[in-house]
Amino acid sequence: MKILVINGPNLSRLDIRDSSIYGDLNYGELKNLIEISAKSHGFEADIRQSDDEATIIGWLHEAVDKKYPVIINPAAFTHYSYAIRDAAELLTSPLIEVHLSNPISREEFRHTSVISGVANGTIAGFGPNSYVLAIIALKNLIG
Ligand code: DQA
Repeated sequence: MKILVINGPNLSRLDIRDSSIYGDLNYGELKNLIEISAKSHGFEADIRQSDDEATIIGWLHEAVDKKYPVIINPAAFTHYSYAIRDAAELLTSPLIEVHLSNPISREEFRHTSVISGVANGTIAGFGPNSYVLAIIALKNLIG
């Protein structure tokens, strides 16, 4: 079964972001980890990244139409994009929100997620393993 893994702004630049916050993997390595771990749970992961809100909304609409389960790291959009939230709310398939860091333990503006309320669950703070745990969660949800 195909799953869509959507990564938001600046996640393609993990190589130059603070590794003490986001972990040691660059974006290519993160993609490999997601792909391998999805495969080991019987999923084919379609992994995408965009810095553009409209593009992410378009991908969510595609997932709505094709009923793809979605794992999303909305990055900074997490904290203020009502447009992404409204698109995510249209999904009838499971949605897992992931974060590399634990936003609740960081600056106050990161304490709010406008996405969490429309996700089945959120996994945050485990570095790249947040995605691995999200895949396991998805597997459990889908059965
Ligand atoms: C992030 C957390 C967000 O607050 C931040 O803007 C990101 C990455 C994470 O994965 O920890 O870009 O979503």
